[in-house]
Amino acid sequence: MAQDFWNSALYEGNHVFVWQYGESLLELLAPKAGERILDLGCGTGQLTGKIAESGAFVHGIDSSLSMISTAKVNCPHINFSVADARSFQVEQPLDAVFSNAVLHWIKPPDAAIDCVEKALRPGGRFVAEFGGKGNVGAIAGALLSVLSEIGFSQPQSLNPWYFPSVGEYAGLLENRGFEVVCAVLFDRPTLLAGGSAGMVNWIAMFAGEFLSGLSDEVRSHVINAVEERLRPTLYRDGSWSADYRRIRVVAVKQ
Ligand code: BEZ
Repeated sequence: MAQDFWNSALYEGNHVFVWQYGESLLELLAPKAGERILDLGCGTGQLTGKIAESGAFVHGIDSSLSMISTAKVNCPHINFSVADARSFQVEQPLDAVFSNAVLHWIKPPDAAIDCVEKALRPGGRFVAEFGGKGNVGAIAGALLSVLSEIGFSQPQSLNPWYFPSVGEYAGLLENRGFEVVCAVLFDRPTLLAGGSAGMVNWIAMFAGEFLSGLSDEVRSHVINAVEERLRPTLYRDGSWSADYRRIRVVAVKQ
Protein backbone atom coordinates (compact mmCIF):
# COMPACT_ATOMS: atom_id res chain seq x y z
CA MET A 1 0.00 0.00 0.00
CA ALA A 2 1.22 3.54 -0.76
CA GLN A 3 2.58 5.62 2.12
CA ASP A 4 -0.21 7.33 4.10
CA PHE A 5 1.00 10.92 4.34
CA TRP A 6 -2.35 12.33 5.49
CA ASN A 7 -2.76 13.60 9.03
CA SER A 8 -6.51 13.58 9.63
CA ALA A 9 -6.28 15.81 12.74
CA LEU A 10 -4.42 18.58 10.86
CA TYR A 11 -6.77 18.16 7.92
CA GLU A 12 -9.87 18.55 10.09
CA GLY A 13 -8.40 21.43 12.10
CA ASN A 14 -7.10 23.72 9.36
CA HIS A 15 -8.82 22.74 6.14
CA VAL A 16 -12.52 22.85 6.96
CA PHE A 17 -13.16 24.66 3.65
CA VAL A 18 -12.58 21.38 1.78
CA TRP A 19 -15.96 19.99 2.82
CA GLN A 20 -17.72 23.31 3.49
CA TYR A 21 -17.48 24.16 -0.22
CA GLY A 22 -18.33 20.54 -1.02
CA GLU A 23 -21.78 21.01 0.54
CA SER A 24 -23.02 22.84 -2.56
CA LEU A 25 -21.89 19.84 -4.62
CA LEU A 26 -24.40 17.78 -2.64
CA GLU A 27 -27.16 19.83 -4.24
CA LEU A 28 -25.99 18.54 -7.62
CA LEU A 29 -25.91 14.98 -6.28
CA ALA A 30 -29.45 15.34 -4.87
CA PRO A 31 -29.33 12.02 -2.97
CA LYS A 32 -32.63 10.24 -2.35
CA ALA A 33 -33.75 7.86 0.36
CA GLY A 34 -32.94 4.27 -0.50
CA GLU A 35 -30.30 5.06 -3.13
CA ARG A 36 -26.94 3.27 -2.99
CA ILE A 37 -24.17 5.87 -3.13
CA LEU A 38 -20.38 5.71 -2.87
CA ASP A 39 -18.38 8.67 -1.50
CA LEU A 40 -15.07 8.26 -3.35
CA GLY A 41 -12.23 9.79 -1.32
CA CYS A 42 -14.43 10.52 1.69
CA GLY A 43 -11.65 11.95 3.90
CA THR A 44 -12.90 12.35 7.46
CA GLY A 45 -16.51 11.67 6.43
CA GLN A 46 -18.24 15.06 6.82
CA LEU A 47 -19.94 14.95 3.42
CA THR A 48 -20.58 11.20 3.71
CA GLY A 49 -22.59 12.01 6.85
CA LYS A 50 -24.60 14.66 4.96
CA ILE A 51 -25.39 12.18 2.16
CA ALA A 52 -26.61 9.68 4.77
CA GLU A 53 -29.02 12.31 6.16
CA SER A 54 -31.01 11.96 2.91
CA GLY A 55 -31.81 8.33 3.79
CA ALA A 56 -29.46 7.00 1.07
CA PHE A 57 -27.26 3.98 1.86
CA VAL A 58 -23.81 5.48 1.63
CA HIS A 59 -20.39 3.88 1.79
CA GLY A 60 -17.20 5.97 2.08
CA ILE A 61 -13.80 4.90 0.77
CA ASP A 62 -10.43 6.60 1.04
CA SER A 63 -6.86 5.43 0.45
CA SER A 64 -5.76 6.87 3.82
CA LEU A 65 -6.14 4.72 6.93
CA SER A 66 -5.79 7.86 9.08
CA MET A 67 -8.76 9.51 7.29
CA ILE A 68 -10.89 6.36 7.47
CA SER A 69 -10.18 5.86 11.18
CA THR A 70 -11.35 9.43 11.89
CA ALA A 71 -14.37 9.06 9.59
CA LYS A 72 -15.49 5.98 11.58
CA VAL A 73 -15.33 8.02 14.79
CA ASN A 74 -17.16 10.98 13.20
CA CYS A 75 -19.95 8.82 11.71
CA PRO A 76 -20.10 5.46 13.53
CA HIS A 77 -23.35 4.49 11.75
CA ILE A 78 -21.78 4.65 8.25
CA ASN A 79 -19.71 2.02 6.42
CA PHE A 80 -16.18 3.17 5.62
CA SER A 81 -13.23 1.29 4.19
CA VAL A 82 -9.72 1.85 2.92
CA ALA A 83 -9.60 1.48 -0.87
CA ASP A 84 -7.78 2.99 -3.84
CA ALA A 85 -9.72 5.09 -6.38
CA ARG A 86 -7.85 3.30 -9.19
CA SER A 87 -8.80 -0.24 -8.19
CA PHE A 88 -11.93 -0.25 -6.00
CA GLN A 89 -14.84 -2.61 -6.67
CA VAL A 90 -18.36 -2.77 -5.30
CA GLU A 91 -20.58 -5.76 -4.59
CA GLN A 92 -23.80 -4.37 -6.09
CA PRO A 93 -24.28 -1.71 -8.79
CA LEU A 94 -24.64 1.81 -7.40
CA ASP A 95 -27.08 4.63 -8.15
CA ALA A 96 -24.37 7.27 -7.79
CA VAL A 97 -20.69 7.88 -7.16
CA PHE A 98 -19.83 11.19 -5.48
CA SER A 99 -16.36 12.65 -5.14
CA ASN A 100 -15.17 15.97 -3.70
CA ALA A 101 -11.62 17.38 -3.84
CA VAL A 102 -9.91 14.05 -4.51
CA LEU A 103 -9.57 13.27 -8.20
CA HIS A 104 -6.73 15.77 -8.71
CA TRP A 105 -4.59 13.30 -6.70
CA ILE A 106 -5.39 10.36 -8.95
CA LYS A 107 -3.04 9.50 -11.78
CA PRO A 108 -3.75 8.00 -14.25
CA PRO A 109 -7.26 9.52 -14.22
CA ASP A 110 -8.77 6.88 -16.51
CA ALA A 111 -8.14 4.09 -13.98
CA ALA A 112 -10.52 5.85 -11.56
CA ILE A 113 -13.08 6.59 -14.29
CA ASP A 114 -12.98 2.92 -15.24
CA CYS A 115 -13.73 1.84 -11.65
CA VAL A 116 -16.55 4.40 -11.35
CA GLU A 117 -18.10 3.18 -14.60
CA LYS A 118 -17.95 -0.47 -13.48
CA ALA A 119 -19.45 0.43 -10.08
CA LEU A 120 -22.54 2.24 -11.48
CA ARG A 121 -25.77 0.75 -12.78
CA PRO A 122 -26.85 1.92 -16.27
CA GLY A 123 -28.38 5.38 -15.70
CA GLY A 124 -26.31 5.83 -12.53
CA ARG A 125 -24.62 9.20 -12.05
CA PHE A 126 -21.10 10.37 -11.33
CA VAL A 127 -20.97 13.73 -9.55
CA ALA A 128 -17.51 15.11 -8.90
CA GLU A 129 -15.58 18.27 -8.11
CA PHE A 130 -11.82 18.66 -8.03
CA GLY A 131 -8.99 20.97 -9.09
CA GLY A 132 -9.24 21.98 -12.75
CA LYS A 133 -6.82 23.44 -15.28
CA GLY A 134 -4.85 26.30 -13.71
CA ASN A 135 -5.71 25.26 -10.13
CA VAL A 136 -3.24 26.67 -7.58
CA GLY A 137 -1.32 27.99 -10.57
CA ALA A 138 0.45 30.73 -8.59
CA ILE A 139 1.42 28.37 -5.75
CA ALA A 140 2.62 25.59 -8.05
CA GLY A 141 4.44 28.11 -10.24
CA ALA A 142 6.28 29.58 -7.22
CA LEU A 143 7.26 26.10 -5.95
CA LEU A 144 8.52 25.05 -9.38
CA SER A 145 10.52 28.21 -9.99
CA VAL A 146 12.16 28.20 -6.52
CA LEU A 147 13.06 24.50 -6.93
CA SER A 148 14.55 25.14 -10.33
CA GLU A 149 16.56 28.08 -8.94
CA ILE A 150 18.14 25.81 -6.33
CA GLY A 151 19.22 23.34 -9.00
CA PHE A 152 16.35 20.93 -9.74
CA SER A 153 16.46 20.29 -13.48
CA GLN A 154 12.96 18.78 -13.71
CA PRO A 155 10.89 19.99 -10.74
CA GLN A 156 7.69 19.30 -12.68
CA SER A 157 8.38 15.57 -12.18
CA LEU A 158 7.66 16.12 -8.45
CA ASN A 159 4.20 17.54 -9.16
CA PRO A 160 1.63 15.07 -7.77
CA TRP A 161 -1.47 16.83 -9.17
CA TYR A 162 -3.76 16.29 -12.16
CA PHE A 163 -5.72 19.43 -13.11
CA PRO A 164 -7.50 18.80 -16.43
CA SER A 165 -9.48 21.14 -18.65
CA VAL A 166 -13.21 20.54 -19.07
CA GLY A 167 -12.60 19.27 -22.61
CA GLU A 168 -9.94 16.80 -21.54
CA TYR A 169 -11.92 15.33 -18.64
CA ALA A 170 -15.24 15.24 -20.52
CA GLY A 171 -13.41 13.39 -23.32
CA LEU A 172 -12.13 10.76 -20.87
CA LEU A 173 -15.66 10.26 -19.53
CA GLU A 174 -17.18 10.00 -23.00
CA ASN A 175 -14.52 7.51 -24.08
CA ARG A 176 -15.61 5.33 -21.18
CA GLY A 177 -19.27 5.49 -22.21
CA PHE A 178 -20.60 8.29 -20.01
CA GLU A 179 -22.90 11.05 -21.16
CA VAL A 180 -21.55 14.30 -19.70
CA VAL A 181 -24.58 16.38 -18.74
CA CYS A 182 -22.70 19.18 -16.98
CA ALA A 183 -19.04 20.22 -16.90
CA VAL A 184 -17.78 23.61 -15.71
CA LEU A 185 -14.49 25.22 -14.70
CA PHE A 186 -14.57 28.18 -12.33
CA ASP A 187 -12.31 30.23 -10.05
CA ARG A 188 -12.73 29.80 -6.32
CA PRO A 189 -10.13 31.89 -4.46
CA THR A 190 -10.11 30.32 -1.00
CA LEU A 191 -9.14 31.96 2.28
CA LEU A 192 -6.75 29.76 4.28
CA ALA A 193 -7.09 29.37 8.05
CA GLY A 194 -4.18 30.22 10.35
CA GLY A 195 -3.53 33.90 9.54
CA SER A 196 0.10 34.52 8.63
CA ALA A 197 0.86 30.76 8.93
CA GLY A 198 -1.85 29.83 6.42
CA MET A 199 0.41 29.28 3.41
CA VAL A 200 3.05 27.32 5.35
CA ASN A 201 0.28 25.11 6.75
CA TRP A 202 -1.21 24.58 3.30
CA ILE A 203 2.16 23.67 1.78
CA ALA A 204 2.87 21.26 4.66
CA MET A 205 -0.53 19.59 4.28
CA PHE A 206 -0.84 19.41 0.50
CA ALA A 207 2.46 20.11 -1.27
CA GLY A 208 4.87 17.89 0.66
CA GLU A 209 5.81 15.89 -2.43
CA PHE A 210 7.55 18.92 -3.95
CA LEU A 211 9.79 19.07 -0.86
CA SER A 212 10.43 15.41 -0.16
CA GLY A 213 14.10 14.54 0.07
CA LEU A 214 15.17 18.09 0.99
CA SER A 215 17.08 18.75 4.22
CA ASP A 216 15.22 20.76 6.89
CA GLU A 217 17.37 23.76 6.06
CA VAL A 218 16.74 23.68 2.30
CA ARG A 219 13.06 22.96 2.88
CA SER A 220 12.62 26.09 5.02
CA HIS A 221 14.54 28.13 2.47
CA VAL A 222 12.17 26.94 -0.27
CA ILE A 223 9.04 27.60 1.81
CA ASN A 224 10.21 31.09 2.77
CA ALA A 225 11.11 31.91 -0.83
CA VAL A 226 7.72 30.63 -2.05
CA GLU A 227 5.91 32.73 0.57
CA GLU A 228 7.80 35.86 -0.47
CA ARG A 229 7.00 35.23 -4.12
CA LEU A 230 3.29 34.79 -3.37
CA ARG A 231 2.88 37.54 -0.78
CA PRO A 232 2.05 40.37 -3.23
CA THR A 233 -0.82 38.40 -4.80
CA LEU A 234 -2.12 35.94 -2.19
CA TYR A 235 -1.58 37.67 1.20
CA ARG A 236 -3.94 40.37 2.31
CA ASP A 237 -5.00 41.85 5.68
CA GLY A 238 -3.18 39.18 7.67
CA SER A 239 -4.53 36.17 5.77
CA TRP A 240 -3.44 33.97 2.88
CA SER A 241 -5.65 32.68 0.14
CA ALA A 242 -5.12 29.90 -2.41
CA ASP A 243 -5.90 30.41 -6.10
CA TYR A 244 -8.24 27.44 -6.46
CA ARG A 245 -10.01 26.66 -9.75
CA ARG A 246 -12.58 23.90 -9.65
CA ILE A 247 -13.93 21.55 -12.26
CA ARG A 248 -17.41 20.15 -11.65
CA VAL A 249 -18.89 17.32 -13.65
CA VAL A 250 -22.10 15.34 -13.72
CA ALA A 251 -22.00 12.32 -16.02
CA VAL A 252 -24.47 9.49 -16.53
CA LYS A 253 -23.54 5.90 -17.34
CA GLN A 254 -25.22 4.85 -20.61
C1 BEZ B 1 -7.54 21.35 -4.33
O1 BEZ B 1 -8.46 21.01 -3.57
O2 BEZ B 1 -7.74 21.95 -5.38
C2 BEZ B 1 -6.15 21.01 -3.99
C3 BEZ B 1 -5.84 20.64 -2.72
C4 BEZ B 1 -4.56 20.31 -2.44
C5 BEZ B 1 -3.58 20.36 -3.40
C6 BEZ B 1 -3.89 20.75 -4.66
C7 BEZ B 1 -5.19 21.07 -4.96
